[in-house]
Amino acid sequence: MAGRIPQQFVQDLLSRVDIVDVVQSRVPLKKKGKDYWACCPFHGEKSPSFSVSQSKQFYKCFGCGVAGNALGFVMAYDRIEFPSAVELLAERLGIEVPREEGSDPQAGLRQELYAILSEASTHYQRKLRETDGIAGVEYLKRRGVSGEIAKHYGIGYSPPGWDGLLKAVGTSPRLRELLEQAGMLIPKDGGGPEQRGHYDRFRERVMFPIRDARGRVIGFGGRVLDQGEPKYLNSPETPVFHKGSELYGLFEAKQHKDSQSRMVLVEGYMDVVALAQFGIPNAVAALGTAATAAHLETLFRYCPEVVCCFDGDKAGRGAAWRALSHAIALQREGRQVKFLFLPDGEDPDSLVRQEGPEAFKVRLSEQSLPLSTYLFEELGRQTDISSLDGKARLAALAKPLIGKATDPVFKMLLEQELNQRIGLSQPMIAERPAAPRPSRAPTRPKPLAMTPMRTVLALLLQQPTLIDELPVNAERELKALKGGELLALMAQTLREQPGVNTGVLLGLFADHPHEDTLRQLAAWAPDGADTDPKLLETFEASRPQVFADALTRLRHEAAQAAADPAHLEARVRSGLATAEEKARFMAGLRAGKT
Ligand code: UTP
Ligand code: MN
Repeated sequence: MAGRIPQQFVQDLLSRVDIVDVVQSRVPLKKKGKDYWACCPFHGEKSPSFSVSQSKQFYKCFGCGVAGNALGFVMAYDRIEFPSAVELLAERLGIEVPREEGSDPQAGLRQELYAILSEASTHYQRKLRETDGIAGVEYLKRRGVSGEIAKHYGIGYSPPGWDGLLKAVGTSPRLRELLEQAGMLIPKDGGGPEQRGHYDRFRERVMFPIRDARGRVIGFGGRVLDQGEPKYLNSPETPVFHKGSELYGLFEAKQHKDSQSRMVLVEGYMDVVALAQFGIPNAVAALGTAATAAHLETLFRYCPEVVCCFDGDKAGRGAAWRALSHAIALQREGRQVKFLFLPDGEDPDSLVRQEGPEAFKVRLSEQSLPLSTYLFEELGRQTDISSLDGKARLAALAKPLIGKATDPVFKMLLEQELNQRIGLSQPMIAERPAAPRPSRAPTRPKPLAMTPMRTVLALLLQQPTLIDELPVNAERELKALKGGELLALMAQTLREQPGVNTGVLLGLFADHPHEDTLRQLAAWAPDGADTDPKLLETFEASRPQVFADALTRLRHEAAQAAADPAHLEARVRSGLATAEEKARFMAGLRAGKT
């Protein structure tokens, strides 16, 4: 994945993404006035001073001073680097991040595989409508899958026979090779490479296309119609399909608003499809493997809460326990992994059909166990803590698990709970909860001393249309002042990019040496206005006036400076002087000499 991300792409991305959605999926926001508010996720507070502006595509906290655009937010909140933040936002929009150089040798192959898998998917869907697909249709009917939902998930059918796909998609050597690499054909044993034959991997199965987050088909799960082994046949690992990180139904789920607050991780294809059909569109499934850390990480990119939903049987409990061991390391403030166990013998598919979506949602909200509760309940089942031995055993079992926690606060909470359960006073087991929670935010920036130049820059950042109030000749006059070069650069940028908002504009200055200052300026408000919404509104309405005043002062400053001989010399030396100034300077020199 080498190669620089083109600047233009970052800009486009920032202008397409909505910061409100991005923040909302991590921190619940409330609309108040024209902005959205929450308690700041970057410092502890009781009343909301963290605001997100949709029109500016910009967030800021009046309490701790953090501020930035959607990319900055994701970087700070998810604690990831710039390229990952770009990837993440692009994925939400379903677009691919282009890279400038260092092209990936496999990229071409992957494109071909996507194309051929998409063709295969079309083929299977078509078969469902043709006469040799009747068995598939009947199976889906029997299972109560509606035509509409089958279409939404692209469900298809592979009729019996050894070469249906091969014949439909292509028999040329190149296509065979691609289909084989895509996991759709299996080479026959024997024969040299030339006459080597192939046969279809998926035969007489209901076909579930597996899509990546961008909606591209990357593999299939195929279910037998009746009895038969294996019940589900999945695509093998291929250059485009990695079971450990892909989730069935993610592409469909992420399109629903429900997925911004919670995702439900279930075990089966049919569970995802049935839940969606019955009004729970935010479910996804791991692909025949237990949930991995990568799966959970993926889900946390879209929402703050993941409910892992398992059958109540022994296998379900086993899978839940494996999921828990991954989840411990990922849990931290603002993220929750929960566990929901269904009654023995039921799965989400059967249950949602029986009791309907409302009852199922109640289960999700009220019966799912927080990670720590599940952890200790399960350990409690394995030990008898009425005895001293049992307590010691519980501690011994719990400690390595607690040791996996990476978030200090979460770890501390688990330790406290363990101590409570075994009835020890805290210091005996817990490494003392020494420091308070390390803040995710950098230390609060020093407030900037505002000068007229900074005021002009701040207002342009906050309300880019003010560029129309900056005459081109004024911009030139101001160039010699401190900050004038930056102002000129910003003015040029704004003239080239009419209609940018604050967030995008900041994105354009992402590599600029004064990036931090600019971010602070974008968040600046006069004293008092940063804590009082009424004053803030007054300030916002008065921006054009404040801008005009600051500009007048700056032009005055520039005129005075220009009259100062020392200034003239500095301008000439730095090459900034106009022809008129150079002439004046030369004249002065000559006059001095005589
Ligand atoms: P289950 O056996 O619980 O089946 O497998 P299910 O999802 O309830 O399927 P239906 O309702 O009988 O159709 C759960 C998941 O485990 C994987 C599949 O992803 C399946 O959805 N699995 C199961 C396989 O990959 N292969 C198998 O042979 C069985
Ligand atoms: Mn089932």
